[in-house]
Amino acid sequence: MKAAIYPGTFDPPTVGHLDIIQRAARQVDKLIIAIGENPAKKASFFTLEEKKQFLKAITQAIPSIEVTSFTGLLVDFAKSCHISLIIRSIRTFLDFENETLEAQMNRHLEGLETFYLGVNEKYRLISSSRVREIGSYGRTLTGLVPPEIEAAVFYKLSSSGNR
Ligand code: COA
Repeated sequence: MKAAIYPGTFDPPTVGHLDIIQRAARQVDKLIIAIGENPAKKASFFTLEEKKQFLKAITQAIPSIEVTSFTGLLVDFAKSCHISLIIRSIRTFLDFENETLEAQMNRHLEGLETFYLGVNEKYRLISSSRVREIGSYGRTLTGLVPPEIEAAVFYKLSSSGNR
């Protein structure tokens, strides 16, 4: 069975993430979406439970998907699942630089392979932090986050005053 892990912070998941999930799921028998922590980023705005609910809601039509979370290093999580394939996406040159270095370290530590899916051109400008910023000013998130979670994401952002 071909299985892969798609890790991310998903704060919140966007239409760009969903595009990668749908395309990756077509290539493997099982895709684990793993919510992790990026020590280089400030604390998550959405709770872990909210992110799990969002990801489950937008992937409910895809039976081969499992949503979970991990703490610590991705290599240790992957080893515990007996999975050696990681899926990531690349939007820009900056992503390329960061992602390749991280992938090389993951290969060095535990022999993990990383497959990159080029980001869909339509979603190149989207990022979770831009979604948070736009929503916090009360602007619509239509087209930026999947419709199943748009109201919940918008409600929390627009009522938070977090800018
Ligand atoms: N379309 C649009 N936007 C996309 C996208 C796509 N296809 N794919 C990613 N993005 C955006 C996200 O919205 C996000 O935006 P943001 O920076 O504004 O939040 C950004 O690209 C990347 O986010 P995401 O893919 O959700 O996760 P991440 O890069 O924050 O996640 C981990 C990184 C969790 C996978 C990584 O830090 C990790 O493995 N952590 C565990 C510790 C570890 O092992 N570190 C590595 C040591 S070598």
